[in-house]
Amino acid sequence: MQDLIQKLNAYKQEIAEFSGSGEQAAEAFRIQWLGSKGRVKEAMGEMKHVPVEQKKDAGQLLNEFKLFAESKYAELKETAGTGTADQSAPDLSLPGDAVPLGSRHPISLMRHKIISIFQRLGFAVAEGPEIEDDWHNFTALNMPAHHPARDMQDTFYVDAGENTAVDWLLRTHTSNTQIREMEKGKLPIRVICPGRVYRNETISARSHCFFHQVEGLYIDENVSFADLKQTLYFFVREMYGKDVRVRFRPSYFPFTEPSAEMDVSCFICGGKGCNICKKTGWVEILGCGMVHPNVLRNCNIDPEKYTGFAFGMGVERPAMLKYGINDIRLFSENDVRFLKQFTAAT
Ligand code: PHE
Repeated sequence: MQDLIQKLNAYKQEIAEFSGSGEQAAEAFRIQWLGSKGRVKEAMGEMKHVPVEQKKDAGQLLNEFKLFAESKYAELKETAGTGTADQSAPDLSLPGDAVPLGSRHPISLMRHKIISIFQRLGFAVAEGPEIEDDWHNFTALNMPAHHPARDMQDTFYVDAGENTAVDWLLRTHTSNTQIREMEKGKLPIRVICPGRVYRNETISARSHCFFHQVEGLYIDENVSFADLKQTLYFFVREMYGKDVRVRFRPSYFPFTEPSAEMDVSCFICGGKGCNICKKTGWVEILGCGMVHPNVLRNCNIDPEKYTGFAFGMGVERPAMLKYGINDIRLFSENDVRFLKQFTAAT
């Protein structure tokens, strides 16, 4: 037994000092120690010389020794692939790089919300150019040159040089897209037009020189103001809930007749009066009306046969109300501290 212990200790030392590396060294180790003629097997053979009463202890020692040899072999195998022989292999035990999670912009979230409600009513999305000519932004919309209503929308004109016959401008509303849809000559039309618009206004917490709109247009035979109201009632119910009340106020837009502005009861204070609704209990949401016959005629649509309604709303204000944002400039500053707050928003 004493002999066996000594022998195993010597073997262990030898194993511990084994200093090869790479596949070949690992294989040589396996043959020398773990192979069918290897030393582990040979040591196991010593068992038969051990007296019966010591067999249990000897068995334990031999087992331990076998495990020791095997773990050395496992170590040699492992480093053979990734060790000094191949420095370029990746270290799979390193922690990974965190991938920062992006977020949707609050304007995109709100625009999406508005679009998806109208899509459920069968409206398709139409988009048009932000740099537009005078015809599509103004004239076709019943605002001929020098029409006073042009002053309602302070316009950025594009200096396109002297060689151009038309005035180019940054569109002041997405109604330009409605004209372009009507000009295609395919009826009926049921579209919503989301997009960015520009107005020459002083930038403050409440207004900016660019913002976003979603406008809608429905043209078919026998479209009435009742259809307009029903469509907008549906929108309000889906957007603000069934408890919100709606009112229409007569208004004026050159491209619609009759025209109205739509208010909803303040969803912040429930109509009691607060700072958001300026103590009136109502919040203005959108402008709307029946498409003016002149507009239809400008697009070669017969106003005796077809009628239609249109509406238009801003995206910034509902987004500010929904997310509690008190400065419109935050939307365009690209400050990640602001933007990352919408990671989980819907
Ligand atoms: N184009 C109008 C605006 O920008 C909104 C509007 C669209 C009003 C359609 C009535 C009908 O203010």
